[in-house]
Amino acid sequence: MESGYARSSDSHPVLTDRLGRPLRDLRISVIDQCNFRCRYCMPRDLFSEGHPFLAPQQLLSFPEIEAVVRAAVGLGVRKLKITGGEPLLRAGLDQLIKRLTQVPGVEDVGLITNGSQLTVAAERLRAAGLHRISVSLDSLKPQTFSWITDRVGDPGKILDGIEAAKDAGLAPLKVNMVVQRGINSAEAVDMAAHFRATDVIVRFIEYMDVGTRHRYQSGLLVPSREIRDAIHAHWPIEPIGSNYFGEVADRYRYLDGAGEIGFISSMTQPFCGSCTRLRLAADGKLYSCLFASHGRDLRPILRRDASSHKKNDPLRLLSPEVSRRLEEALVGFWTARDDRYSEGRQEQQEGTGQPHEKVEMYHMGG
Ligand code: GTP
Ligand code: 5AD
Ligand code: SF4
Ligand code: SF4
Repeated sequence: MESGYARSSDSHPVLTDRLGRPLRDLRISVIDQCNFRCRYCMPRDLFSEGHPFLAPQQLLSFPEIEAVVRAAVGLGVRKLKITGGEPLLRAGLDQLIKRLTQVPGVEDVGLITNGSQLTVAAERLRAAGLHRISVSLDSLKPQTFSWITDRVGDPGKILDGIEAAKDAGLAPLKVNMVVQRGINSAEAVDMAAHFRATDVIVRFIEYMDVGTRHRYQSGLLVPSREIRDAIHAHWPIEPIGSNYFGEVADRYRYLDGAGEIGFISSMTQPFCGSCTRLRLAADGKLYSCLFASHGRDLRPILRRDASSHKKNDPLRLLSPEVSRRLEEALVGFWTARDDRYSEGRQEQQEGTGQPHEKVEMYHMGG
């Protein structure tokens, strides 16, 4: 398949990678820190107090992020997802959201959060123009929740945050549950029961081998099929079509009209063939895949010839010169892309592929 750059009939740019996949989504990590220590993401023994997270000057500033977004939108990106670490730990996040929702061409701005700050932040985020939220919540039981997140925590507080987000009008609201065998797998049906008929869409995520530091345990993987069958046995469900090309979740609806659920099955039914997602890490590196080994640093472009008082000057960052360089970098990056890690995982495991170094998920964003 040829990669390239063209315009579609509705005059949207279509930039395709080497597997013919268009660039449509940009996932933006705004911080690499988190107040949780989920064992599958930031195990506490490796991310203790004093861990060298990115220093403030290493993080892209909001005007820098906006400059990248404007260039990406010019190349076909329509959907933005703000992630972390925990994005609500980034000071002034609503200012960034305000900027990004105003970029012409941006149709959808969502945010992934662990929900711990939502009771105070939801209204502010909505007022800033945020469209949607996905909340990560793996258990409704205080003990399991605390074990998974490796801190004393109360899932009730996350549920209050979800209510606050609903009240603020951040709809449709999604809850992501990473299912791990023997840890929270027995609670999948309870999670479905809790959110049935509430307009909150629960998505069951297969535990993935992201990063290298959390020491993946393949025995904890529960194929989505098992969860789907267990839920179907309680309340019959049927598949419904995707909302858009490249949607990662397989959508289902309850036959009794109690709403929608989804399954994200990156391990057992990889969806690389329709992967339209580009990732921007908090330090300005671009990644072409959740499992990438290396990134392309945009900071040399963004900070070139910038004296400290001009660093965040919009006139400089949005100048034709910087815009052209960013566009060139994005085009070069996307047209060279041939990642299909999840589809190739089997070959890796069978030992026929090359050993694969991976960047951590908390760093590049979920
Ligand atoms: P919508 O914008 O609501 O459609 O969200 P989404 O379905 O893209 O889901 P969300 O952004 O909430 O991401 C949910 C989870 O899906 C992520 O946290 C990842 O675990 C997984 N995921 C998302 N994108 C990818 C991807 O490109 N590859 C893999 N392997 N997993 C992904
Ligand atoms: N497997 C599956 N999902 C993961 N996430 C983080 N690490 C993993 C993993 N190893 C999910 C979180 C959250 C999102 C940001 O990514 O639970 O929903
Ligand atoms: Fe934090 Fe999310 Fe990672 Fe858990 S999965 S440690 S909430 S970034
Ligand atoms: Fe996309 Fe990489 Fe995930 Fe495949 S493994 S869907 S290429 S991010």
